[in-house]
Formats: sequence, structure tokens, C-alpha cells
Amino acid sequence: MKNILFDCDPGHDDAIALFEALAHPQELNLLGVSTVGGNQTLENVTKNAQHILSAAHAKVELASGQDRPLVKEFYPATNAHGDSGMDGPVFKGTDYNYPISSQNAVTFLRKKIQLTSDLVTIVATGPLTNIALLLKTFPEVKDSIDQIVIMGGGLSHGNITKAAEFNIWTDPEAAKIVFTAGIPIVMAGLDVTERAYITYDEIQTFKGQGSVSEIVYELLSFYYESGKQFGFKNSPIHDLCTISYLLDPEMFVGETYSVDVVTDDSSARGMTIADKRLLPENKNSTFVLLDVQREKYRDLLFKAIASLN
Ligand code: BDR
Ligand code: CA
Repeated sequence: MKNILFDCDPGHDDAIALFEALAHPQELNLLGVSTVGGNQTLENVTKNAQHILSAAHAKVELASGQDRPLVKEFYPATNAHGDSGMDGPVFKGTDYNYPISSQNAVTFLRKKIQLTSDLVTIVATGPLTNIALLLKTFPEVKDSIDQIVIMGGGLSHGNITKAAEFNIWTDPEAAKIVFTAGIPIVMAGLDVTERAYITYDEIQTFKGQGSVSEIVYELLSFYYESGKQFGFKNSPIHDLCTISYLLDPEMFVGETYSVDVVTDDSSARGMTIADKRLLPENKNSTFVLLDVQREKYRDLLFKAIASLN
């Protein structure tokens, strides 16, 4: 059983990842969910998290965190995720009643780590602002963190720019703090997440199967359509790689590198660079996921969602 803290910015793919995590209470002890400004404003992504947690009848605590990157301006991903950050499904007004902690996510995460006797895994599927602040403000928590599993970056290409992936590009200063903190990192970047897709026909199979399936159908239908503007013929469910990795690491292959983040104002801002030399300069250890058995990935999702209906 792994203790998990899930920091996210829902986000269609964050929502799917959250559902898959909630569907595995035997394997994943979800200690808390926190939100960070990213795909949309902090207010919007927190509402979206409330919707998802309500829909799954979850009992996990939710806290909201930072509403903008550490240094630069905030640019939400409205083109990919719509005005709400999770356009597609229509939720009932009552879903806003899901409780939100009075603590800021950074103190919330620290408390949860302190109160847990075993090591904790952090899953981060949005910009790394909350996690960087946690590590800088309360460095003692590092000893209690087993690993940080991140959706972000990419060794071969970017998506928001030629060089950078959206989550890292949104807050490169935060990402640099996290990648170089000395904690084992698993990086699910675009190298693997663009191979972790679902097809149009597979999305149709969620229709009419139950309440959570219906939400997943609406989410993925919107995401599939919005993905076309970026040239996708199928829909990569980026953030789901984090939870799927924790549930079944064998379905992934990867390599360990020392990874750094470009924070200067060049066209490479937000780029993740692996030191592939035999004798790397720094020794930080990032396990970079590079490929996935897609059918296994898809089937794990099908099973998870069916169990939540
Ligand atoms: C990442 O950016 C966001 O838009 C998605 O939710 C995902 O976390 C993909 O680049
Ligand atoms: Ca996300």
C-alpha cells in the first residue's frame, strides 16, 4: 500500500488520473488532494477537483494552494481545457459543497506528511509551484518523501513551445527546485505520455455505462476534440501515466538520468534536459519514462472507471 499526496490542476487528464487513483483504495492510500493554478485559475481547478471527488463519493481531504508561478506571470491553458479548465461535463450545483481545507496546500501537504509514519509518494500533475514551496519552506519533509512522480517535461520535444512542456514551462523555477532537491523523481514527460493515448472508438465505450463513466465520456470527448488543434489523431491522457505507473510500473520502460530545467529567458525556457554523459555533472536521479504498453494502460483505466460507477 502506497501513501499518496496528489497535487493537480484539473484539467481533463488530471481528473481521469484522480478517478483511477480513487478506484484503487487497496493499493493507493490517498492521503490528500491539493490544487495549483495551471490549466485554469486556482478557483476553477479547485471547483473541478470538488466535482470529481464528489462524483466518486470520495472522502479524501482537499486543499487549494498557489494561484500563480513563483516568478513569472500566469497563463492558463484555455485552448486545451476550455474556460472552466474542465469543459465538457455538466455538473450539478451541489457538487460545490465538497469541503475545502482552511489550510493552504503547502501547510496541508506538510501536515499530511508529518502525520504519516511511513514514507509518502507525491504525485504532481500540474505546475510544481506547491511542491517547490513545500520543499523550500519545510525541507525536513524531504526525508519522509519516498519519490515524486511528475507529469511534466519531455526529453525530445515540448508542447507549449518547441522546447518546453506546459507544466514545466508554467513554473520552471519551481520545477528546477523539485528536480534538484535530491529526492528520487519519476518523470512522465511527453516522451511517454503522447504514447499513452486513447482512441475515439475507445472513448465511445464509456457512454451509457454509469454515472462516472458518463463523466469520463464527456471529459474525453472534449479532450479528443481539443487535441485536434495540436495535431493529435488520438487523445493522450498525459497525467494518467503517474497513477498507472504507481499501480503497474511494469507496463512502462524508462532510463535514469540527472535532469535539469532551463530557467533563463531564452527560447528553451522550461525545457527539461537530461545529462546523458557517462559522468554527469550532478547526480540527481530522475527515472524518465519513455514507453508504455498502451493496451494495458487503457485496460487499467477501463477497469478502474467501471468500478466507480
Ligand atoms: C500537461 O499540461 C496540462 O494541460 C495537462 O493537464 C497535463 O498535465 C500536459 O502537457
Ligand atoms: Ca495537469
